[in-house]
Amino acid sequence: MTIIINDAEGINGMRAVGRLTGQLLDYLTPFVKPGVTTNELDRLAEQYTTQVLHATSAPLDYQPAGYVPYPKSICTSINHQVCHGIPNDKPLKKGDIVNIDVTLIKDGWHGDSSRMFVVGEASIAARRLCALTYESLWHGIMQVRPGAYLGDIGHAIQKFAEGHGLSVVREFCGHGIGRKFHDEPQVLHYGKPGTLDKLEAGMIFTIEPMLNAGRRDIKELGDGWTIVTKDHSLSAQWEHTILVTPEGYEVLTLSEGGPPLPAFVKA
Ligand code: MF3
Ligand code: CO
Ligand code: CO
Repeated sequence: MTIIINDAEGINGMRAVGRLTGQLLDYLTPFVKPGVTTNELDRLAEQYTTQVLHATSAPLDYQPAGYVPYPKSICTSINHQVCHGIPNDKPLKKGDIVNIDVTLIKDGWHGDSSRMFVVGEASIAARRLCALTYESLWHGIMQVRPGAYLGDIGHAIQKFAEGHGLSVVREFCGHGIGRKFHDEPQVLHYGKPGTLDKLEAGMIFTIEPMLNAGRRDIKELGDGWTIVTKDHSLSAQWEHTILVTPEGYEVLTLSEGGPPLPAFVKA
């Protein structure tokens, strides 16, 4: 149970892959339109990753213990799909909300980020869920500084989410990341302040809350990957890769094309 403290070389490697990860999401953004299939987004992502970014897609053939190998380069989770949706030939339609989750490997380092996209115009409820989940991620990020606890992050997210009538998925969490895709610690999106591991400068992990409009319960589909809400309510997720700095935090997967930071995040 040890959390890696990255040295300057690791931090530079993670900054570089984090930048590329944000760049890939920016590249995909204009293609997320009614009529595009998630297989087409997957193909565009794989091509841009290898040919432009000179990087590798970590999800392709990824096989944690107990899983079948993941068959695609990105995850695309639509509407009531919570996470790990597998791209297919079904076109996106107006009103869908879709999470695109990308993980790149560059020089052995991993960068992991996901965003929500609204296809055409979505309902007010769908847009509200996406916006509040984004804000919940940033409430978690703002807890990050040396001496804070992992439980502070989870608590901030849970309090904000439940305060707005949304539920927090428990079965999946953020994770340490670096030379490994999924490393210690687990970064829960619920919890109590002052509990779990104490943060130190040089730690790098993701925060990636999944919030449901309905109940928190989930189930896995027969493909061995796709997670959906049990009650079929809408679900949203946003993810960034975060470095603990001596002053607080650095978001490694920021990019020009992402959404503006929430107003409550001070520069
Ligand atoms: N990117 C996901 C995460 O945030 C993991 C996806 S595993 C995959 O941790 F195999 F489905 F890609
Ligand atoms: Co992740
Ligand atoms: Co991810």
